[in-house]
Amino acid sequence: MNSYCKMSAAEAAELVQNGQTVAFSGFTPAGAPKDIPKAIGERAKRIHAEGLPFQIGVITGASTGKSLDGSLALADAVKFRTPYQSDPNLRKSINEGRTQFFDMHLSMAPQNVRYGFLGPVNYAVIEACDISDTGEITLTSSVGAAPTYANVADKIIIELNAFHPPMLRGMHDIFEPQDPPYRNPLPLFRPSDRIGSPVIKVDPKKIVGVVPTNAADETGSFSESNPTTLQIGQNVADFLATELKRGLIPKSFLPIQSGVGDTANAVLKAMGDNAGIPVFEMYTEVIQDAVVDLMRSGKVRFASGCSLTVTNAVLKNIYANFEFFQSKFVLRPQEISNSPEIVRRLGIIAINTAIEVDITGNVNSTHVLGRSMMNGIGGSGDFARNAFLSIFTCPSTAKDGKISTIVPLVSHMDHSEHSVQIIITEQGVADLRGKSPQQRAQTIINNCVHPDFRGVLRDYVKMAGTGHSPQTLSAAFGMHLQFAKTGSMQGINWADYKV
Ligand code: COA
Repeated sequence: MNSYCKMSAAEAAELVQNGQTVAFSGFTPAGAPKDIPKAIGERAKRIHAEGLPFQIGVITGASTGKSLDGSLALADAVKFRTPYQSDPNLRKSINEGRTQFFDMHLSMAPQNVRYGFLGPVNYAVIEACDISDTGEITLTSSVGAAPTYANVADKIIIELNAFHPPMLRGMHDIFEPQDPPYRNPLPLFRPSDRIGSPVIKVDPKKIVGVVPTNAADETGSFSESNPTTLQIGQNVADFLATELKRGLIPKSFLPIQSGVGDTANAVLKAMGDNAGIPVFEMYTEVIQDAVVDLMRSGKVRFASGCSLTVTNAVLKNIYANFEFFQSKFVLRPQEISNSPEIVRRLGIIAINTAIEVDITGNVNSTHVLGRSMMNGIGGSGDFARNAFLSIFTCPSTAKDGKISTIVPLVSHMDHSEHSVQIIITEQGVADLRGKSPQQRAQTIINNCVHPDFRGVLRDYVKMAGTGHSPQTLSAAFGMHLQFAKTGSMQGINWADYKV
């Protein structure tokens, strides 16, 4: 190791003081530090046992793994958290009001920190596979917001992770835009363009410690596709192939952004199997297992992303066959991978997952029953609002059919009807382009709603009558209230809600 001060994770944790803000690298569990946050959690528990306070502000690229969000939440050590999370213990802490969570479009996290909107950053803790004496940091399986956090933080601690080989230098394209009023257009015109440096460059004097480790990313595995996700995938692929045939997507196709989770994986698999979809490129946030399979089969030519959120077996295989893969993808800062300017310029086809959709096309990506935070808006808004084509998918029901994911009015809105063009469930496709709210309601109910709930939603629209938008304020949350009262949205009587 070079001239930096080598220390243990426990020694690094001692540097962090109560009330400070720590910005961590990582975007999903990919590239998130593990040993240092775990050690900060242990330190918090010891301090709490003495009856003293210890909580920190935690800023990251996106969600992280159990060693970071999980350990810190279990230790009750997270005062505020932004911009995205998906850890069950942290989610509990947020929904019980013990952690203040600021849900943010992921493209905006770096600039909000640079602008000073979130206060000073005391430490940046960055996972790296290599670091030079001159302060050149080579990141690991993600970029996230690490370049900005390393630049703005007072001090930097490096978690040097030998699991990721130093040959990764060149996989990342690090570029930070100037802030207004000096910002120029981002010079990126194709998903494979490179506009920055392979490394983060910092003043080596800011690096106060290097903690060596050897730990795999804490990325979970994917569930086997089930009949519902398979059918959603099939519906998306068939819809895109038809659009191409109709000439509504250019013959050369357009770059794909695909959200996270099992449905997103199933959609990509179905696109790979569909002969009507040509070889395509991805300009996306998270590169999942399915993308890697499609690179091997030749269906995906290139993928630009912010993180390699793949299972460990797949990551090991990429590293073992790095010559094949290194020309096929690039990892960028989230400010660039999710940039509204680039999404609009490249004409991205954005495919994201909703928790809840309403009959006029508004989408809730974040809150269960309007109240409990699931994960956060993530990059869905960055892409949906600016895409060439904005698609939202979801199963038509949740909780064993007791909940209709399509309701009169969403209980929380992340994407308004103006940013949503296509809704796809396992039931079918609702194309909302060029349709009024009344027409959208008919299309969504006929094509996407589960048969068990079509009647009740048709009755709702009838009750609403002829306004521009088919809504009745006294009944708009009737299905949610029915669920709260009876544990099921079924069996509603709209007469109970009429005023
Ligand atoms: N009401 C109540 N609960 C609901 C629900 C609804 N309308 N819809 C889903 N749920 C529940 C499910 O039952 C499940 O509960 P469980 O964990 O107890 O089993 C949970 O919510 C997750 O649902 P699931 O269908 O497994 O979702 P998913 O893994 O496909 O994730 C999102 C869906 C919306 C949570 C996820 O895609 C997300 O966080 N999106 C926002 C960020 C984003 O879009 N990022 C990508 C941008 S690049």
